Amino acid sequence: MRVEGTDYRTVIMEGSTVRMVNQPMLPLRFEFIDLPTHHDTARSISSMIVRGAGAIGAAAGYGMAQVALEAPDGPEFMDYVQAGAETLRQTRPTAQDLFYAVQRVLDAIGGADSVQAARQAAVETAQAMADENAAAGQAIGELGATLIPDGANILTHCNAGWLAFVDWGSALAPVYVAARQGKRVFVFADETRPRGQGALLTAWELQGEGVPHAVIVDNAAGRLMQTGEIDMVIVGADRVAANGDVANKIGTYEKALCAADNDVPFYVTAPTSTLDARSPNGATIPIEERNADEVLHVTGITDAGEWARVRVSHAQAKARNPAFDITPARLIRAIITEKGIHAPHELPLEASR
Ligand code: MRU
Repeated sequence: MRVEGTDYRTVIMEGSTVRMVNQPMLPLRFEFIDLPTHHDTARSISSMIVRGAGAIGAAAGYGMAQVALEAPDGPEFMDYVQAGAETLRQTRPTAQDLFYAVQRVLDAIGGADSVQAARQAAVETAQAMADENAAAGQAIGELGATLIPDGANILTHCNAGWLAFVDWGSALAPVYVAARQGKRVFVFADETRPRGQGALLTAWELQGEGVPHAVIVDNAAGRLMQTGEIDMVIVGADRVAANGDVANKIGTYEKALCAADNDVPFYVTAPTSTLDARSPNGATIPIEERNADEVLHVTGITDAGEWARVRVSHAQAKARNPAFDITPARLIRAIITEKGIHAPHELPLEASR
């Protein structure tokens, strides 16, 4: 996607270094960070320098390529590879793309007949997955745009734009395509407490693309659906179970309930790398519980243009912080992948790992 006239990808690999957008700096500063080793790349995932299922997957794929490049020749090669895979798998539990990417590079390494061939296969597979990720976003955009009427007011939750992928995004890709086709679209971006991905990232992306938008607090969407100000909801997904239940950012379920109560179509977008055939339903998807500090503090930009963090509850307050929830398939009108627009119970699960 373009930022001030230049095309970027969210995550790339140059030689053995992974380079990615430093997302916690947005929208104050658009900058990249270099990660020389797979340990650095793993930390970038766990600390959410890179976040969003697709971008996490691309980073994990490149992290596995770094593992293969770092691993010693000889009999210790596979031990190092397995340990690196485990380090990457432990970074975050919910995004299916992470596990998909690690496994696909492991499979490529396992199919090679020498250490040199294994290194090459790892790098090529990681690059292929990043390219597929970008292409899937574009295809989702083109398919999803067919569902967006001219003049649509669209609600989205969290950030499933190009920052959450290598390029294009999932939920925002149909918006970008529709806008480029000349359709008039308006986006309501849920703020997305506690980390504010909607206010900080989605609004910044939409501004860059010239898409009119408004940030709303997470609790406002139901009201705007009741007053007829939202025509459709489009969200991303961190993992989709075999029966079409969807894990996405905390609060998504409530938006789906409000949408059902108000006859507002609720669409989920996800590349097939997010589908998890091994999870029969949403109950078997691991849900990340994050640090209570994220709830008890907010971080924002002062009038002087600097980051500031303030506490929002009393000093002894405790908090719960589940990062994702499950939206049951029955509340979802359709799931859009790069392969088509599917009823939630008719997913193309063949490629799932
Ligand atoms: O915790 P994050 O920021 O990694 O959460 C993931 C998300 O950005 C959202 O849940 C998004 O809607 C799906 S990721 C394409």
